[in-house]
Amino acid sequence: MSVLLQATGLTKSFRMRGRDVHAVADVSLTVAAGAALGIVGESGCGKTTTARMLLRLEDPTAGRILYEGADITDLHGRALLPFRARAQLVFQNPFDALNPRFSIRQSLVEPLRNFGIPAGAHAAHIEAVMQRVRLMPAAAWLDRRPHELSGGQLQRVVLARALIAGPRLIVADEPVSMLDVSVRAGILNLLREARDSLGLAAIYISHDLALIRYVCERTMVMYLGRVVEEGPTAALIATPAHPYTAALVAAVPVARVEQNRAALPIRGSLSDAPLAGPGCAFRTRCPYAMPRCETETLALRDVAPGRRAACHLVGVAS
Ligand SMILES: Nc1ncnc2c1ncn2[C@@H]1O[C@H](COP(=O)(O)OP(=O)(O)OP(=O)(O)O)[C@@H](O)[C@H]1O
Ligand SMILES: [Mg+2]
Repeated sequence: MSVLLQATGLTKSFRMRGRDVHAVADVSLTVAAGAALGIVGESGCGKTTTARMLLRLEDPTAGRILYEGADITDLHGRALLPFRARAQLVFQNPFDALNPRFSIRQSLVEPLRNFGIPAGAHAAHIEAVMQRVRLMPAAAWLDRRPHELSGGQLQRVVLARALIAGPRLIVADEPVSMLDVSVRAGILNLLREARDSLGLAAIYISHDLALIRYVCERTMVMYLGRVVEEGPTAALIATPAHPYTAALVAAVPVARVEQNRAALPIRGSLSDAPLAGPGCAFRTRCPYAMPRCETETLALRDVAPGRRAACHLVGVAS
């Protein structure tokens, strides 16, 4: 397995009303070349902030990011351009991702120019990528503007724009959440096809465990800025190790079939959760909380081969 992207101890804090709030705390992850990692968790748990740090769109407060073994944490500006061409974000909302005044052609030329691809090669790149996202013949689309396209067509253009400079990694933050259910599968399949034929790695961010199960071999579950569980998606859904993962799984009808525990009651909401201090952040909502959960902060530890969780309930694998 060759490691494409590796992050250790990623932390982001924001100053809010005079105190530091951790949006992301001590997140470590590895993405192998060609692999797909899912990040799931409720709104506000830090998924987008994590992705933005991984893509060097936001500076981490602490932690390191390595791309193909090279530390890119402190790079800025032009020094980041080669990385930017290799690691691309697919935006959540296709209507926000494209400049409304640009034609589709202009939207596609922009990244080619930014990444220094010679003008003589632009037409061939555009033709190839339009074929890949099935907007054919390309000539029928290139002179249109975003308002002349449907949401599904726009998302294809957004994907084309992400693919055009030859990335090795795609980060898709809720890639289809704004789309009509009927076009979601088409976009997901296009992404999957592009990944298969180009050998791209991907990070998919979603609330939707069913979507993650469909596209990601490995999944990371976040709760209030921390990773609470991580492992192969199928195993994590079939036998969740952390009570929070179990609650997420119980909330997804399509996953429940495979689940071999009864659905878990989960109390309260994120706003009841402790924001700082020691102990497990999930304890206020956890049906199994014990006194030690209030005082001991548990790091992720191995609970089975390839699986890690941060919970006193699950034993350490021998
Ligand atoms: N620029 C900022 N300034 C202050 N707080 C921020 C900033 N960006 C994010 N946060 C806070 O960090 C936390 C994590 O936000 P983030 O957007 O990463 O969550 P998310 O998991 O992507 O949520 P969603 O599922 O709703 O997209 C939230 O509490 C958010 O309010
Ligand atoms: Mg988000």
